[in-house]
Amino acid sequence: MDTSDFPARAATANTPGAWGAHLAERAARLDAADRLAPVRGLFALDERVVYLDGNSLGALPAHVPERMRDVIARQWGELGIRSWSESGWWTAPERVGDRVAPLVGAEPGTVVVADSTSVNVFKALVAAVRLAPEGRDEIVVDATTFPTDGYIAESAARLTGTRLVPVEPAEVAGRVGPRTAVALVNHVDFRTGRLHDLPGTTRAVREAGALAVWDLCHSAGALPVGLAEHGVDLAVGCTYKFLNGGPGSPAFLYVAPRHQRGFDSPLPGWNSHADPFAMAPGYAAADGAVRGRVGTPDILSLLAADAALDVWDHEAVDIPAVRAKSLALTDFFLECVAVYAPAGRVASVTPRAHAERASQVALRCAQAPAVMEALIARGVVGDLRRPDLLRFGFTPLYTRFADAERAARVLGEVLAA
Ligand SMILES: Cc1ncc(COP(=O)(O)O)c(C=O)c1O
Repeated sequence: MDTSDFPARAATANTPGAWGAHLAERAARLDAADRLAPVRGLFALDERVVYLDGNSLGALPAHVPERMRDVIARQWGELGIRSWSESGWWTAPERVGDRVAPLVGAEPGTVVVADSTSVNVFKALVAAVRLAPEGRDEIVVDATTFPTDGYIAESAARLTGTRLVPVEPAEVAGRVGPRTAVALVNHVDFRTGRLHDLPGTTRAVREAGALAVWDLCHSAGALPVGLAEHGVDLAVGCTYKFLNGGPGSPAFLYVAPRHQRGFDSPLPGWNSHADPFAMAPGYAAADGAVRGRVGTPDILSLLAADAALDVWDHEAVDIPAVRAKSLALTDFFLECVAVYAPAGRVASVTPRAHAERASQVALRCAQAPAVMEALIARGVVGDLRRPDLLRFGFTPLYTRFADAERAARVLGEVLAA
């Protein structure tokens, strides 16, 4: 783990007050030059609060309530069951999938939005073992994974008669071999914000004859992923973090075109049937991304996520712009923390190198629970990963440099108190 202590503030021979004025001025200049600045206006945000938890639950795009009023009052209330066809409900999982696809560098027709990430991890892992060459008996899993992926991988291994092999993400490329069926890796470490090497790891996994499955929960909508470009086999991710889809909004599942015909879902529900309304007793899988569906979609959550994706249609918004601002924001926040935090009270566990940093900063801090509680009470909303990590998520679509400066300043005050 990359743990770099911040330089002692006293050693800079500058008072936080003098530096603070300088940092606040810099923040104002950076915000004035920010091409994404107008996009903040598309969100419903409490101006008294600095919201740095978009890596957990993205903020509400302001137009979503009105859209949902239409979905509920007209589509459901007036049209009722007719909306399955007339309002496009039935095909919404694939249609919304096609909106997510360009944000993760996927081809059209390869992404479906349905179910939770956990359920999609299960589908992807079991299907990957079934796609792997005969005789492969190992599932390599990211040893630092978000827990649900590990729990589900363990169950998938038992169900498929394979063995679970936990490996640090950086070592997956060197560990995969002739026994590996599949490697499941997180693109970003949810604790530290470390960005893992998706291109290199995917290449190594595929060269070993295995399949690479990526969990993109913390990278989708935050940075370039390049699923097609890097030859990823299968991927999953949520829509409620950097895609702002709302609490519990459905997750996505990517199946590379070369695997779509062979994708044998362990949950072959009627929604993935080639002719669902034939109500046939026997199962015949549909073609394409639809094969990743299971049962009736969560239409309300799905259409809220669909509406939220409209912010990506704004002329200023694209993934490279989001990535550039994300790195600038996290650089600036780290710089502000170095100035404002009393010496030795916090240490960043987030890598300094841009190539290894996603869109959050995690600070190790004694008494982190009490510190986060005090921050939230003062209007700086981040979150806590027990026992001692303060997490701050930076969503470039609505986070300002002034927010980064204020969050660091308030953190300094809380730590000094
Ligand atoms: C990396 C990662 N994977 C999986 C999940 C769990 O997703 P879900 O609750 O949608 O199943 C999360 C949730 O935050 C996550 O961060």
